[in-house]
Amino acid sequence: MDWGMKNRLSRIIRPETGRTVMLAVDHGYFLGPTTGLEEPEKTIAPLLPYADTLMLTRGVLRACVDPSTNVPIVLRVSGGTSILGNLADEGTTVSMKDAVRLNTVGVALSIFVGSELERKTLLALADLINEGHEAGIPVLAVTAVGKDMARDARYLGLACRIAAELGAHIVKTYYCDGFEKVVKSCPVPVVIAGGKKIPERDALELSHNAISSGAAGVDMGRNIFQSEHPVAMIRAVREIVHNNMTPQRAFDLYKTLSESEEAKGRQAVKAGL
Ligand code: R5P
Repeated sequence: MDWGMKNRLSRIIRPETGRTVMLAVDHGYFLGPTTGLEEPEKTIAPLLPYADTLMLTRGVLRACVDPSTNVPIVLRVSGGTSILGNLADEGTTVSMKDAVRLNTVGVALSIFVGSELERKTLLALADLINEGHEAGIPVLAVTAVGKDMARDARYLGLACRIAAELGAHIVKTYYCDGFEKVVKSCPVPVVIAGGKKIPERDALELSHNAISSGAAGVDMGRNIFQSEHPVAMIRAVREIVHNNMTPQRAFDLYKTLSESEEAKGRQAVKAGL
């Protein structure tokens, strides 16, 4: 692996802890203006100081993120389908040349193992990895789970391993029972998506379980930006990922930070700001 590739990987997974808190805000590429991301700029800006990397699409990056930011960018480069159509029929939407031009530290593409389009998405991953190699850009493979697939260790282990065998540098998947097996049988770092919004305490528990089972971090979206207190939530998740905080202590931190945010809000209203 050359220097550029190693350098970019170290900007995704922090060398101090070997872990990462990726903030995923790419949902609009197939969901449109999903709750919490109606105005991406407003959602993203306050969270940036607490994200190790930001995962998003080219359009939102260009339109909604200040180019002077220091937060490394992982670019979603697959798409072309929507929630109304066949999601597995994605294609590659951004050239490697543009990913380089945008100064990204990684590119992300979904694979749909077990779908009728499995071969197409896996070969698209292989092509992206080949191009990433030439450019020194790591590839994050996202194991998308179709409606008919079980989110269990057998299926996710299969999808993660195939992604790693094709050469993905990092794999993003879902947490499941027996997750240690998924991590153990995947020779590259695994990060988890948060999935649909659940109560904060549960999302912290999920993050903790994933980390304890060997995950290298989270690539989390809705459980952060759909939280009533997104900044408090990402800060609590960070403590779990980087400092092994227990879910209960992280939840206490979330509550304390939320209360102080609310108090500041009340003061601002009082002062007429
Ligand atoms: C889905 O494929 C998107 O890439 C999201 O980035 C991913 O699902 C993570 O977001 P969430 O934590 O909301 O599931």
